[in-house]
Amino acid sequence: MEKVKFTAMKDGDREDYAFLTEHETDYAAKTAERLLAAMVDLDNSLSGYQVTRLGHSLQAATRAWRDGADDDWVVSALLHDIGDIYAPYNHDEYAAAILRPFVREQCAWVVEKHGDFQKLYYAHHVGGNPHARDVYKGHAYFEDCATFCERWDQSSFDPDYPHEGIEFFRAQVERVFARKAYDPAVIRTGERVELTDATIANERNI
Ligand SMILES: [Fe+2]
Ligand SMILES: [Fe+2]
Repeated sequence: MEKVKFTAMKDGDREDYAFLTEHETDYAAKTAERLLAAMVDLDNSLSGYQVTRLGHSLQAATRAWRDGADDDWVVSALLHDIGDIYAPYNHDEYAAAILRPFVREQCAWVVEKHGDFQKLYYAHHVGGNPHARDVYKGHAYFEDCATFCERWDQSSFDPDYPHEGIEFFRAQVERVFARKAYDPAVIRTGERVELTDATIANERNI
């Protein structure tokens, strides 16, 4: 069987759908590979900064790595702006949707809200509300998002920062997207993990 027999979904049979499920599983297994390729496309998006979007993403992930952050955080930092390619008006939600099945709830929330938290640094210059993040005050992950933006996002526009390349992060991205989607042991609802770990950071910065 190379293709299903049906032309409308309601006419498919068990054999058709078993065939498709197998195909979809193979395709899903290559998500990490496609995301890494998409990151390279970020090089062509949104100009005007001193670094490209890819450069910015690599800087953010490198800072996370050098802070001793775990896989969930590093991969979230790497992919947090991937939505810029197709969703310029809700790039944060787009990136969060990609990450949500495979990272801690904490990290997906932070990526989803980072656009509002970033406004703290520039919205007053463009007639926006720098305190847009205040609607989330009291949320369990509020401080995590504030830290994410302060340490890894707003700081990562420096053309002189010596960051790692995309290949450096390949194994981590593959590990995260090889997880079982929506596994409660991955999502860890309500659990907070610090963004920084001084001991691990020391080991990584030798
Ligand atoms: Fe962003
Ligand atoms: Fe960013």
